[in-house]
Amino acid sequence: MPARLPAEPRVAIVGATGAVGIELIRCLEQRRFPAASVRLLASARSAGKSLSVMGAPVVIEELTEASFQGIDLALFSAGSGISKRFAPAAVRAGAVVVDNSSAFRMLPDVPLVVPEVNAPAMASHQGILANPNCVAAIATVALAPLHRAAPIRRLNMATYQAASGAGAAAMEELRLATAAALAGQDYAPQVLPHPYAFNLFSHNAEMDPLTGYNGEETKVVAETRRILGLPDLPVGITCIRVPVLRAHAMAMQVTFDAPVDVDAARALLATAPGVRLVDDRVRNHFPMPNEASGQDDVLVGRLRVDLGDPSGCTLAMFVVGDQLLKGAALNAVQIAEGLLPAGAA
Ligand SMILES: NC(=O)c1ccc[n+]([C@@H]2O[C@H](COP(=O)([O-])OP(=O)(O)OC[C@H]3O[C@@H](n4cnc5c(N)ncnc54)[C@H](OP(=O)(O)O)[C@@H]3O)[C@@H](O)[C@H]2O)c1
Repeated sequence: MPARLPAEPRVAIVGATGAVGIELIRCLEQRRFPAASVRLLASARSAGKSLSVMGAPVVIEELTEASFQGIDLALFSAGSGISKRFAPAAVRAGAVVVDNSSAFRMLPDVPLVVPEVNAPAMASHQGILANPNCVAAIATVALAPLHRAAPIRRLNMATYQAASGAGAAAMEELRLATAAALAGQDYAPQVLPHPYAFNLFSHNAEMDPLTGYNGEETKVVAETRRILGLPDLPVGITCIRVPVLRAHAMAMQVTFDAPVDVDAARALLATAPGVRLVDDRVRNHFPMPNEASGQDDVLVGRLRVDLGDPSGCTLAMFVVGDQLLKGAALNAVQIAEGLLPAGAA
């Protein structure tokens, strides 16, 4: 199993027709990833159709265990069951796997990577590298520059998560449900568990009746701790699905040892990699999903001292990122770029 990729890797995208898969193709194109070839893999439903890659049509093939012969880099985004079943076959065939699912994220020998935060972790990979949960990826891009300057002692967050986080079918459900509501018609939810038009609800991941936390919340807590290298960080969280097509938002309260200097935090974030400061108090202009959609940067703003902590040691902020990009496809391609020989990206 090669530790690094060749200068011009032969790439396979598993789940190429999905919400993340389509963005993986775009990211490879826009970032001029030096792929020698790109193979598109999906289910039998899509086999034979084609998608444009770098200006030329590529026929989609049905994923099988034999799909990875001659592949150097396999980008997986077809769900954790598919990753668990097929990623080992890709590694056996000699490919490096970057996986978007939750299948391997907490395994000790699988690096969980956000390149702006913990790029050195990539070096220890054994053939599979994991892309984090979308909220964890976006949150840690904003938290890491603050944590480098002063250790974070506690984190509270509430998320406002878009339809796109639940895949292409959920985005379509939001469009159809909204059109039906505007036309005064009934719409029975097919993908998400509750009516989505002009509504919001607790995240649709499976709820643990004992703890009262759902699977999304559990993943965000565990992965944020792992990426930041803070295994015992106390994290409070509530994840909510909102009727936004694309880009997740999160309100955070971040506690440090010493009283917060908002101007110093703003200065750190203004130059942090992958961050764009959107913090205009005069115009009431702060991060919004429609301004983050399609953008690589994580938008950070509404910086202020949190009045809920009388010690003054807690910073409140609002963070928005396109989770199909920084929370999935872009981050995966950035990981792959980090595995290229020096000078190849
Ligand atoms: N959406 C996000 O923001 C996000 C963020 C981070 C991670 N992820 C993860 O990325 C993965 C994909 O998410 P998504 O939002 O792109 O989902 P999606 O839009 O529902 O797409 C699913 C993809 O998986 C393919 N697929 C399904 N069953 C398959 C099978 N038996 N064999 C081969 N391919 C199969 C589908 O192909 P067909 O079109 O042929 O059915 C499609 O390409 C999931 O693991 C998700 O947790 C998503």
